Amino acid sequence: MKSEVELLASARRYSFGGRMDASGRGPIFVRGCGSEVEDINGKQYLDFNSGQMCAWLGHNHPTIVDAVHDACKSLIHTHSSYYNDKEIELAERLGNLLPAPLQKSMFLQSGADANEAAINIARKYTGGFEIISPHTSFHGMSDTTRSLTFAGWHRGYGPPQAGMLAMLAPYCYRCPINLDPETCGIACLDASFELIDAQTTSRPAAVLTEPIFSAGGVIEPPDGWLSRLAEQCKARGMLLILDEEQTGLGKTGDTFAFQRAGVAPDIITLAKHFGGGICVSSVTTSVEIEARVVADEFIVTHSHSNDPLACAAATATLDVLERDDLAGKARQLGGYLRSRLNALAERFEIIGDIRGRGLLQGIELVRDRATKEPATTEGKAISERCLEAGLIFSIRRDGSVLRFVPPASTSEDQIDRAIDILSDALADVNG
Ligand SMILES: Cc1ncc(COP(=O)(O)O)c(C=O)c1O
Repeated sequence: MKSEVELLASARRYSFGGRMDASGRGPIFVRGCGSEVEDINGKQYLDFNSGQMCAWLGHNHPTIVDAVHDACKSLIHTHSSYYNDKEIELAERLGNLLPAPLQKSMFLQSGADANEAAINIARKYTGGFEIISPHTSFHGMSDTTRSLTFAGWHRGYGPPQAGMLAMLAPYCYRCPINLDPETCGIACLDASFELIDAQTTSRPAAVLTEPIFSAGGVIEPPDGWLSRLAEQCKARGMLLILDEEQTGLGKTGDTFAFQRAGVAPDIITLAKHFGGGICVSSVTTSVEIEARVVADEFIVTHSHSNDPLACAAATATLDVLERDDLAGKARQLGGYLRSRLNALAERFEIIGDIRGRGLLQGIELVRDRATKEPATTEGKAISERCLEAGLIFSIRRDGSVLRFVPPASTSEDQIDRAIDILSDALADVNG
């Protein structure tokens, strides 16, 4: 096998850059198991990013490995115009897992193409074309979804798609309209709809939102925000699309994050850990919406739509979700992680806020707790030190938010090790 030096030289020459880590220094991963990954030099890392959040069941989960192995022996890929058994089985399982009226599913590959399909459904169904999303949202990097990814990654890509409108996200730690979250009455929502109503040129088709803004900085809306948003959508004949690609399937401590708010969307998208590490996404809507758009010649299909191998992996994920009570695990381990982060906040002034649910947690770093000046360079330095010491997580909001998404396979002992590494890095950088 080639050495790390040789592989990095080859990567510099042949691999496209354009990734979040621009350093090109490595590490180069070669193996993974549960909550840990190993690089080419045999060094182990605690993976508190779950790969790209897609290995949240744990790397190389045996149930996924078996399902993929079985699918490889029967049928990996097939003609997407016709049904296959794995796809039908998955649609039935998902239809029974989701609350009514969410029942009809299609299976695609990435989170972005699931969100695009959901947008297309909303446009066909409502006859409108405008799509609204909060200003801290991330929905993908296709042209359509990048136009709604208001958390960043816009500069230099040309004009965004027409009809994409931003609304204010309820980022209570840094209220965009400078109100006190205790008494504001969620005024940012009303202000947003005043602007939307002033700007609209047709009936807006949908609001597309995450229930918790993950890439935008692990921002959790206050109680009542999602239900008020659903009412505003209904009043305008718009659909509510929930992007649960990060938050769905147990991670936040509920099977779906929207259940906590007591609101069911018109369309839901899933991706990320849906395939247990295999690339698959879904769009699910009601019988009524599906029937209407299909009658109007709605088609979204890609080369790998409804592939049996990907669908078998997703069904195996649902098996693990139910059999191992992943939502319960996320609550229990997430509570433990949160208590350890809270203890760090007592020692380190730089920790300004701790947020998140279940096994999606984040800390926001500030130079001064009163002014809340974002500690961006400090966050980047902390993340680099942690990586060197064998702990992976991601940074958001230009480095000021550290986001932790440990796999459901993580033990309390592994959380303790991660906290020790983080604590040393905080001490190094922050004194
Ligand atoms: C909430 C959310 N939606 C959509 C996407 C895009 O998914 P993909 O990268 O699979 O296109 C992401 C990716 O991070 C995401 O976090």
